[in-house]
Amino acid sequence: MAAMAQLLIPVAFYISFLYLSMNSIVVIVDSAASVPFTPGDSYLIDCGSSATSNLHNGKTFKSDKQSASYLSTKSDLQVAVPNGDVPSPIYLTARIFVEESTYVFRMVRPGWHWIRLHFFPVDNPEFDLTHSVFSVETDDVVLLHSFSITNKTQWAMKEYLLNVTTEHLTLKFSPLKNSAAFINAIEVVSAPDSLITDVGTSLVPVAEFSGLSTHSYQTVYRLNMGGATITPNNDTLGRTWDPDLPFLMARGLAKTVSVSPSIITYPDGVSPLIAPNLVYASATEMADARVTNPNFNVTWRFDIDPAFGYLLRLHFCDIVSKSLNDLYFNVYINGKMAISGLDLSTLTTDLAVPYYKDIVANASALSEKLMIQIGPFKEDTGSVNAILNGLEVLKMSNSVASLDGEFGVDGTKLSSSGTSRKTVAAVGFAMMFGAFVGLGAMVIKWYKRPQDWERRNSFSSWLLPLHAGHSSFMSGSKNSGGSQKSGYGNLYSSTLGLGRYFSFAELQEATKNFDEKEVIGVGGFGNVYLGTIDDGTLVAVKRGNPQSEQGITEFQTEIQMLSKLRHRHLVSLIGYCDENSEMILVYEYMKNGPLRDHLYGKNLPPLSWKQRLEVSIGAARGLHYLHTGAAQGIIHRDVKTTNILLDENLIAKMSDFGLSKNAPTMEQTHVSTAVKGSFGYLDPEYFRRQQLTDKSDVYSFGVVLFEVLCARPAINPALPREQVNLAEWAMQWKRKGLLDKVIDPTLIGVINPESMKKFAEAAEKCLADYGVDRPSMGDVLWNLEYALQLQEASSQAKMDEENRAAAEAATAAAAAPTAAVPLPTANNEPAAEVHAITEDSGTAMFAKQLTEINGR
Ligand SMILES: *[C@@H]1O[C@H](CO)[C@@H](O)[C@H](O)[C@H]1NC(C)=O
Ligand SMILES: *[C@@H]1O[C@H](CO)[C@@H](O)[C@H](O)[C@H]1NC(C)=O
Repeated sequence: MAAMAQLLIPVAFYISFLYLSMNSIVVIVDSAASVPFTPGDSYLIDCGSSATSNLHNGKTFKSDKQSASYLSTKSDLQVAVPNGDVPSPIYLTARIFVEESTYVFRMVRPGWHWIRLHFFPVDNPEFDLTHSVFSVETDDVVLLHSFSITNKTQWAMKEYLLNVTTEHLTLKFSPLKNSAAFINAIEVVSAPDSLITDVGTSLVPVAEFSGLSTHSYQTVYRLNMGGATITPNNDTLGRTWDPDLPFLMARGLAKTVSVSPSIITYPDGVSPLIAPNLVYASATEMADARVTNPNFNVTWRFDIDPAFGYLLRLHFCDIVSKSLNDLYFNVYINGKMAISGLDLSTLTTDLAVPYYKDIVANASALSEKLMIQIGPFKEDTGSVNAILNGLEVLKMSNSVASLDGEFGVDGTKLSSSGTSRKTVAAVGFAMMFGAFVGLGAMVIKWYKRPQDWERRNSFSSWLLPLHAGHSSFMSGSKNSGGSQKSGYGNLYSSTLGLGRYFSFAELQEATKNFDEKEVIGVGGFGNVYLGTIDDGTLVAVKRGNPQSEQGITEFQTEIQMLSKLRHRHLVSLIGYCDENSEMILVYEYMKNGPLRDHLYGKNLPPLSWKQRLEVSIGAARGLHYLHTGAAQGIIHRDVKTTNILLDENLIAKMSDFGLSKNAPTMEQTHVSTAVKGSFGYLDPEYFRRQQLTDKSDVYSFGVVLFEVLCARPAINPALPREQVNLAEWAMQWKRKGLLDKVIDPTLIGVINPESMKKFAEAAEKCLADYGVDRPSMGDVLWNLEYALQLQEASSQAKMDEENRAAAEAATAAAAAPTAAVPLPTANNEPAAEVHAITEDSGTAMFAKQLTEINGR
């Protein structure tokens, strides 16, 4: 029973994690101001940690292990140190990535979100993280570009404010220069919409500035003038406010003033969430202000990156005057008048009432330094003084949506005039490589903007031949694989993006001159050969048919796609060859071939239910990544069991992206659309409306799930009419609640009914008539993981039961030694059994399939 209890805790945790924490409500109550705020989304992740971290401040950071579906990475490493000079234990563990890796967060509430990234180069034997150089991006915004921490005792927290309107937020970590990326903790938390209003004031000229809500922001400085540090515990929104002293010039000219926070009264229209009352309860003012005729400014100076514009939020609150209408002063930014004769009394109508002003300092108004000054208003009015209570310096994203460097996520470069242009003009391999990320992203966008098809045609003409200047570039990568650190040997060879260049002769040798006997697959694109390269590494060599125009496009798009996509559940591209107008792609060899062969038709031993769940989960992860991960918005378009390949460890990987790249062009009719995708898997809505969405893949995946459960083809024309189409047939039985009558007989008695129910529900939802009613791949993934948990829980329970029985039997046997009781076995692997039936050639050609179907 003890084992049982132990088991139930993680399962319960898992369920509550999936279904509660996604929508759970965390009310943070500010101890000082008592302003509650309920973030719609709240993720606190302690990366690389194996357990939940409960911090002193009451915050709970979950381990990113506990939330595996966030993280998609091909290769990573967890490291930890016992202690260090860091502000929080979340810095003591890190996750290290040697390849592009992503965290995906499901967003419940669109709007402003804090993203806080915590970095500390944890000392570890594998990687010297002080040599790490990496980038961090969301799908739209570059957060960090060529980021590094070179001091091993330094920690860093980077805070961003982004308006996230998509269903998922992706954080992609990309190591550069053969190094590694790392991350210690991540916070993604909703921020109140009132935090950023659309309108501010520009500095040069002083005028209304609108469009603030269209930018993304990075907090560069956040200061509590005249006061102490305000820690995240004392700010409802978890912000840190630092003292201003280190930035103050000519300190003798300034002094601090503070009052009890309780006297601060927020006016209508200023939310206490803008800044806690502790900020307004202290200020820096002019020293000796009340001497006759003081005439100087109080000045703060800050280092900034002048390539960006900044939103400067100045917080004021008159805590110095004895009466109203006694304080008027000027505010200057980099020597320019920003506010002349600021009259807080008129603006707030009372003392101790907060007021803030947003000033946009565009790059042209700035130099390497940002200088903020406050000084007396020249007119002879009342007391001569000037104050500042708080200051936030927020870097604004530039026109290519970057907060660091001059490139956007799609490789678009910021032009010198500050407006964006695409880096697509140059021809030649080195350029090509640099621009490749951009091209990939553009290809993806064509799905959404089919009118761009003409542009694609215009640059596809220079896309081939590719290898004009390949030699030095690629040969450098050729042998780099073997000499790397243990465990990560081959990972570096692919970091150049396009992979390795193969000469035609090399591939002739690898495939015994494309020997018919080496053919392991036939597709619409051409044949796939088994090849041997280097020291005996097996590869799959896909040789295109150069005559086919369709093929050329698919070749180009596939190479673009694959070079951009790296994921444990996507088949990896090793390299390519385009010599003599050949179109050859070289992939990792997937020893166990297509999933379909393990389900029926090939007389292979049947997969257990757990293996089927794991394979389905793997494939779902791959698709989820395609839809939402590093390269957002890619639609596979040909999801089927022959395109899910299994490696030697039965890890499932999605393959065949040849179809996924082609944006529907203007002339293409439903006929050509029908050619894309495979009969039996086609989304009926796509068929009806010719509109391709990622939900079309979800539909096809639903068919795959039923194929996995029932072990029969999606279409089997040999069967009676009502059974020919698996999706229809399985759904009929599902609706009747009698699905167990049609499942793979080898699963009967082994499959946990609850697990099957969850699985079938997921499949059913995928097959909804309308795309909008279908779940996202992320939801499907979670349901499948749940189904796996249910299955494992039941096997564990069964095993415990059997062990208990065995123990009792053993006791009994000890009492009566002659009664030998055989130990029951927990191995429920069913015997091999063959069902099936028709062969599907795997080709994408609709017509060909029809012929085959008719031919049987
Ligand atoms: C976030 O962006 C969306 C789309 O641009 C916009 O409709 C929405 O108003 C923005 N939200 C806020 C709080 O500014
Ligand atoms: C305060 O600073 C502004 C801008 O740098 C300058 O024009 C002004 O003369 C200064 N005032 C005094 C009293 O020094």
